[in-house]
This record gives sequence, structure tokens and C-alpha cells, in this order.
Amino acid sequence: MLEALPLLLAVCSLVLVLLTLLWLLPHPKCSLIFIAWEEFILLPVRNLLMGSSKEQRILQYVLQHAVAGDPESVLDTIDTYSSQKEWAMHVGRKKGQIVDTVVQEQRPSVLLELGAYCGYSAVRMARLLLPSARLLTIELNPDNAAIAQQVVDFAGLQDRVTVVVGASQDIIPQLKKKYDVDTLDMVFLDHWKDRYLPDTLLLEPLKSQVPQLSPAMGAQWLGLARLRSGHDGEQGAQGPRQHGF
Ligand SMILES: C[S@@+](CC[C@H](N)C(=O)[O-])C[C@H]1O[C@@H](n2cnc3c(N)ncnc32)[C@H](O)[C@@H]1O
Repeated sequence: MLEALPLLLAVCSLVLVLLTLLWLLPHPKCSLIFIAWEEFILLPVRNLLMGSSKEQRILQYVLQHAVAGDPESVLDTIDTYSSQKEWAMHVGRKKGQIVDTVVQEQRPSVLLELGAYCGYSAVRMARLLLPSARLLTIELNPDNAAIAQQVVDFAGLQDRVTVVVGASQDIIPQLKKKYDVDTLDMVFLDHWKDRYLPDTLLLEPLKSQVPQLSPAMGAQWLGLARLRSGHDGEQGAQGPRQHGF
């Protein structure tokens, strides 16, 4: 019994520390402490207990609660899940509305997204595209890419969206030959931040190989970059021709 005492003390201390952290957990939900708590403490426990990943749970929730073929309902369902059940790193409603405005203003024919995650922003942007326009979204994680594909299919947008599995730095140089992309009208950078600059540089040739290059082309080359991680409500600063949020 006495030998078990140190172990018992250690467990009690750990529980105490976790409870204190929980108590200290600040609002709003976008804070770094909240995200770290969710991702590094709660998530592994949940995944273990539930035998599924968060992304699989998001997909299941969409399949059970959203209306097939209705992109708005898919978006609302993911937003509801992330606000009521588990934090998720999708762009969310508030920042999503900024994306909506830019897509509506620019009416891109060919749009590239870096970082699909579960397909939320792909659905968000694709629902506003003309039927003839296309969106390519590159996702590094094959599990996320598979979920994004199912979410896009469920929303009925599979004809406008191509989910490409791989690292942006590997796929971008293949865009022309393998994916038949001559030029890009708009890019949404939403992958890991350390790739923003190198990938923007990699994308340069797709900007200059515009058949009918005009002075206005520069203004149409629009990069949307989420400069700070987190959920709705954070602001970032960026250079010209980039919308950051
Ligand atoms: C913030 S999430 C994207 C959220 C998504 N755009 C949305 O709003 O629904 C970032 C995603 O980028 C992916 N990612 C990170 N680095 C990448 C890279 N080099 N190429 C492609 N995807 C990458 C991650 O696996 C992750 O799924």
C-alpha cells in the first residue's frame, strides 16, 4: 500500500494541474491556451476513447446532420460542430465571410487553395464559383484529403473541386503539366505558415504565363492568406494585394 503512495500522489498532482489549467482556460475560444489544451490534452484522450480522429468525427457529424447537395448546410453543420463539440482549424464563419467577399469580387475561373483540411473552405469558395470555374485544393495529409473529398462530394461540389493529395511544394511545380493549370486567378493560402513565402514564390510562374497579360492582371492576382492561426476573430497585417485575416 505504502509503495503505491508516490504514484497516487503523482496522479493526484497531475489531476490537480489539469483542473487548474481547465479553470484558467480563458475565453474566447481562439486563445492559444485554449487551442493547446484542446489539441494536446483533450484530443488524444477523446481519440483514444472514441476510436476515431476529430476529422472523422466532423465528417460523421456532417453526414448525419447536413443536407446532401446543400453547401450552406454543410458549412453551418461544421461551424456548429466546432463551436459546440470540438475546436477545429477550419477558416470558420467570420473569416469565411471575408473569403466570400473576395471570391465574389474576383470571380476567379481557376482558384488554388493550399491546405484543404476537412474541405470547409473548399466548399465555402466553390459554392460561389461559376459552374465553369474550378478550384484545386492541395492537402498534405492523406487522411484529411480523403475527408475533404467526402465533404465536397456530400455538398455536391465535386465537379468544381479537385482535391490533390501532397505537399504544396511538390504539387505546385506540377500544376501546369499534370493538372492542366496555365494561370491562377486567385490563391488561398491556408496551410502551414512557414510555407507561405516559399510557395508564393513557387507560384510566380503561373502568374506570369498569362496568355493575354494586361496591366490589370497584377490586381487580379490575389493571394488570400490567413496570417494568424486560430479561429474567428483574429486580425493580421499583410502586404498589398493580399487579404489577411
Ligand atoms: C488551417 S488547415 C486548413 C483549413 C481549411 N483551409 C479550411 O478552412 O477548411 C491547414 C491544413 O494545411 C495542411 N498542410 C500543411 N502544410 C501543407 C503543405 N505543405 N501542403 C499542403 N497542405 C498542407 C494541413 O495538413 C492542414 O490540413
